[in-house]
Amino acid sequence: MSLPRAPHHGIGEPIISLRDIRKSYQMGDITSHVLQGLSLDIYPGEYVCIMGPSGCGKSTLLNLLGCLDQPTTGDYILGGQNVAHLDDDTLSAERCRKLGFIFQSYNLIQQLSVVENIEVPMYYRGMKDSDMRVIAVRLATQVGLSHRLYHRPTELSGGQQQRVAIARALANDPLVILADEATGNLDSKSGQEILEAFDELNRQGKTLVFVTHDERMVQRCTRVIRLRDGYLDKDEPGAAAERRKTERAERELQTA
Ligand SMILES: Nc1ncnc2c1ncn2[C@@H]1O[C@H](COP(=O)(O)OP(=O)(O)OP(=O)(O)O)[C@@H](O)[C@H]1O
Ligand SMILES: [Mg+2]
Repeated sequence: MSLPRAPHHGIGEPIISLRDIRKSYQMGDITSHVLQGLSLDIYPGEYVCIMGPSGCGKSTLLNLLGCLDQPTTGDYILGGQNVAHLDDDTLSAERCRKLGFIFQSYNLIQQLSVVENIEVPMYYRGMKDSDMRVIAVRLATQVGLSHRLYHRPTELSGGQQQRVAIARALANDPLVILADEATGNLDSKSGQEILEAFDELNRQGKTLVFVTHDERMVQRCTRVIRLRDGYLDKDEPGAAAERRKTERAERELQTA
């Protein structure tokens, strides 16, 4: 059966394909059907915002996409592999190799320095210490923290901590970066800086899938997916989609 393709402004084959994803929780005698049959594709280079009213299932969906949880039924193809029903260890390995996750409350390890926090995903991949350090310093510098390499999270502002989290999410050069309310804890100026960092990542070709209530983010993304009561309510181009199309056409003209 061929499913209708959602509008998208990425390129190539999907990195993520969800097919009839359902997630239910059993609480005593009551079954709560949180995701009720979601199917969608996400393509390389897209900047996707997932929106919807509180309780509609956004975080549940993002946790599934992030391999932090698994669907009750349905298929999730991530980078060519169905990860919907893997055992815990294999799922963790897939998460570590293919995904970067940014949390609203940063989730940094307080005892570790900036570079050590960025090294954590590489450590779990078994990378050599000296290689990890070179990459961690480069990423910290990329997010504007070259002057804070050996500080602890408590010695950093919220915006700086979120930048460490962004660098950590980039550490294993993931297929996709996922974030749940990444600007939710930040004041408007720090939030703006983080939004600009995301714009830059997307310009470099990174695929971003973010849950957000932040209208500023919606103005910058290429696609908006709206959920309602666990259903896909709308799937529309974001404000940046047209801009992206024009930029690509110009590039193709230049290289023609
Ligand atoms: N572990 C769980 N057990 C039972 N119910 C859960 C569990 N996790 C989430 N839910 C329920 O699933 C529904 C969706 O929750 P979810 O956290 O995905 O919402 P959300 O769209 O992210 O909301 P918000 O915008 O407030 O963060 C809610 O009704 C919630 O109570
Ligand atoms: Mg949520």
